[in-house]
Amino acid sequence: MATQLWIEKDKSYIWHPFTDYNVGRLPIPIVRAKGVYLFAEDGKSYIDAISSWWVNLHGHCHPYIVQKIQAQAEELEHVIFADFTHAPAIELASRLLSLLPGSLSKIFYSDNGSTAVETALKIVFQYWHNRDIPKTKVVCLKHSYHGDTFGAMSAAGRNKYNRPFWHYMFNVEQIEPHQLDIFDKEDVACFIFEPLIQGPGGMVIYPAEQLDALLRCCKEHGVLTIADEVMTGFGRTGPLFACEHLTQTPDLICLSKGITGGFLPLGATACSDEIFHTFKEHPFLHGHTYYANPIICQTALASLDLLLENSCYQQRQMIAALHRDFCQKWAGHPKLKRCESLGTILVLEYHSVNREQLYDFFLNKGILLRPLGNVLYVMPPYCIKPDELGAIYEQIIFTLEH
Ligand SMILES: Cc1ncc(COP(=O)(O)O)c(C=O)c1O
Repeated sequence: MATQLWIEKDKSYIWHPFTDYNVGRLPIPIVRAKGVYLFAEDGKSYIDAISSWWVNLHGHCHPYIVQKIQAQAEELEHVIFADFTHAPAIELASRLLSLLPGSLSKIFYSDNGSTAVETALKIVFQYWHNRDIPKTKVVCLKHSYHGDTFGAMSAAGRNKYNRPFWHYMFNVEQIEPHQLDIFDKEDVACFIFEPLIQGPGGMVIYPAEQLDALLRCCKEHGVLTIADEVMTGFGRTGPLFACEHLTQTPDLICLSKGITGGFLPLGATACSDEIFHTFKEHPFLHGHTYYANPIICQTALASLDLLLENSCYQQRQMIAALHRDFCQKWAGHPKLKRCESLGTILVLEYHSVNREQLYDFFLNKGILLRPLGNVLYVMPPYCIKPDELGAIYEQIIFTLEH
């Protein structure tokens, strides 16, 4: 199908997420992908420098994952997960629990980042209900984002992206990372946070020491803590999980995005035995139809195999080192308010920039970088080569120098 026809059909039938139709940008039809490259119908290619919204870890269409998906689809494609179970779900849960920091002992599956968070919140609310303790207040960070379902949306910062829904959202306390004077209130049920870097809120990096102080304070006052590792999990910040930068450990961890290496949607919420124990006589009142799909669990297992290879670790080290070098060289540039990196994530904040022009500039150069307002970030698949990263840097430098 010619590109123009694709675009017309798309326009007739489809409503795209987070898309401002006033801007008039036409969707780019992608027909194939390999490694870090997306190939468009018109023959153009794009380096996927944001891992397709932070999900892709090992490159597109990785043959090892493809083969595992195919084999699983021929064996068991799906089965109801209430009163039934299967090997991929069990193996994945056991491997995740052995890798996660702290002493978490149960995995509850869901199907994306928002539902992993939604699950964590409902576990916390029902935990206090099970114990007959009237703790209901949620504390979150000011620039936080935890997803687009109502619970996840409510338990995060208020901003223009969720403005139409404020009236329907439950109240939360929004704090700065250095604010400790909130947890001594009797009714605080939980504190939810994105560890070390607040992603959609503008890639705001904050110190591990501040978060450790917050978590210590929560522990002292019996407040449950939820780490949202939906973006940071699976090596993005250096170690496998961003919570490994901390001395304290959370009571619940939410995972998604990179969990399947970017192939299929999956969410997972890990919690402690102490929490699970209170549900022994009270079933957890939550579940969606496709939770723990066997093909998806098998995909996550395959992605974990690749993630734990030494070569993947070396790649992450290489990306982190090149990002650090970039920052050392360009952090003082007069056009930049901020230039910093955390593991494989590079963040630049311009003093002022036309977001749409910046986005289009990179697309025209064959690079998918999607600025968040004035904030540009690079979060590539781990398989990226130094010269491909160099090509991205080169275009970023062009925007600084011209
Ligand atoms: C930290 C964090 N939590 C939750 C989500 C929601 O994930 P999903 O879009 O898969 O629902 C996101 C998505 O960007 C995220 O960055």
